Amino acid sequence: MVNVKDGIIVIDFGGQYAHLIRRRVREMGVRCELEKFDVEYEEIKNSGARGIILSGGPSSVVGRNPAFLGFDVRKLGVPILGVCYGHQYIAEHFGGKTVTGKAGEYGSSEVEVMKKNVLFQNLPSRFSAWFSHADRVETIPRGFVRIARSEKDENSAFANDRLRIYTVQFHPEVSQTSFGKRLLHNFVFKVCGCQSHGSREDVISEIVQDIRQKVGDSRAICAVSGGVDSTTAALLTKMAIGDRLSCVFVNHGLLRKHEEEDVLRLLRENLGIKVEYVDASVRFLEALKGISDPEEKRPRIGENFATVFEEFSRQQPGTEWLVQGTLYPDVVESTTPYPGSSRIKSHHNVAGLPKKLGLKVLEPLRDMYKDEVRKIALKLGIPRNFAYRHPFPGPGLAVRVIGEVTPVKLNICREAGYIFERELVSSGAYRKLWQAFAFVGDDRVVGVAGDNRRHGYMVTLRAVKSEDGMTASYAKLPWSLLDKVSREVTNTLPDVSMVCYSLSNKPPSTIEPQ
Ligand code: XMP
Repeated sequence: MVNVKDGIIVIDFGGQYAHLIRRRVREMGVRCELEKFDVEYEEIKNSGARGIILSGGPSSVVGRNPAFLGFDVRKLGVPILGVCYGHQYIAEHFGGKTVTGKAGEYGSSEVEVMKKNVLFQNLPSRFSAWFSHADRVETIPRGFVRIARSEKDENSAFANDRLRIYTVQFHPEVSQTSFGKRLLHNFVFKVCGCQSHGSREDVISEIVQDIRQKVGDSRAICAVSGGVDSTTAALLTKMAIGDRLSCVFVNHGLLRKHEEEDVLRLLRENLGIKVEYVDASVRFLEALKGISDPEEKRPRIGENFATVFEEFSRQQPGTEWLVQGTLYPDVVESTTPYPGSSRIKSHHNVAGLPKKLGLKVLEPLRDMYKDEVRKIALKLGIPRNFAYRHPFPGPGLAVRVIGEVTPVKLNICREAGYIFERELVSSGAYRKLWQAFAFVGDDRVVGVAGDNRRHGYMVTLRAVKSEDGMTASYAKLPWSLLDKVSREVTNTLPDVSMVCYSLSNKPPSTIEPQ
């Protein structure tokens, strides 16, 4: 039985950000659980929840097979906040009208508060909010009042104070919605009257305890990539099981420039982690020959990782577990939990590993976001500049080389990314960004070098700001910086004749190009 006494239940309709709503509520020190929309009425009724939040979701309330609760929400008698799909769900449920395929909004838009309401208390009358929807509420239900509109949508939020039901079309849980946390705070405390129990005190000992219990007397191996996630997972596991943990760093030939030296030095010298280095680059690059579909690249990389891990684990008799630094955003993008939800991409460590791995997978950070992991990393003594290193995907440069991974494209991607990163570090812009890199595809354009024609590749630079990788905005870098990088890339890489800059947010793009 779920227990959220004095807290909140988030009904998960399969939206990308449902878990983020839970995180936001928990950050307020309020108990919160996520329950799939097919949850039983009694389960919610007896949970002790003081309020319900209906999440976003991929289905359409006016489409085929919409996700619906198996009971009438009114019966619960507690306040309700509908978000995105939840907003349309409430409209439909109470006799309003939702239309599909017209005037969707993706990304930031300005919201104007039309009527004073507890939900918007202490918020400005105009603020910017993050939208991601194709359907729109055309007519709000009788008995409800419109409380906000956006540039494209007259009914961005509506409410019925008597029934204590509130809905918003935008996503207050994502960081791009300014004052989103305040809005959720208003709902949780002012509308629902929830109680805060302070923050979760000792996450580290909870995780360590959990690892110790799972691994028992057996051994574990941990695949460290040099990223903050796997390093933190390794340190936590080391705290739990000591020398029964063995770490391995696999060079798959898709690393950034100087990565292996930098990472091994840091792990061995700064953090005292015993780590074995395996150079498997030939095997990985062979497996990628002729493959251009990103959803085929990832499983191939996953399979090869698995083989290396199995070989490594055989050298440590008694190994039963493989520890990975998987985070929640990797999980949510890789899975298709509900009808109608789509797999965005198979993050290699979630959906890329073969089913018959021969090792049990332990992911101590699976419920967390990057910024939470970084806080733990600092507490564990991981140096600040390392904890705040930009994320680097497990499949490495394979997802930054569009199409087949060829030696020429791989080299361009690696060198251009290095030039870009070095310039960002020296200008001080690096630490303000979530991620920055270069990617390259098969497009080639005609250029001129001296008096000669140069039919070279087109390289794209991409730099984004984000809090958790779930959404992102492209960074407005100074022209002078981009200009410098562009010139250096074309001057030092004879196979490149044009440099572009990516101006797309997530959504509609993702951070990596593949
Ligand atoms: P996307 O591209 O999906 O990325 O917006 C969100 C964050 O996840 C990283 N990423 C991956 N990390 N294996 C990983 O370990 C993967 O297959 C993978 N794909 C994307 C990406 O770099 C970004 O930080």
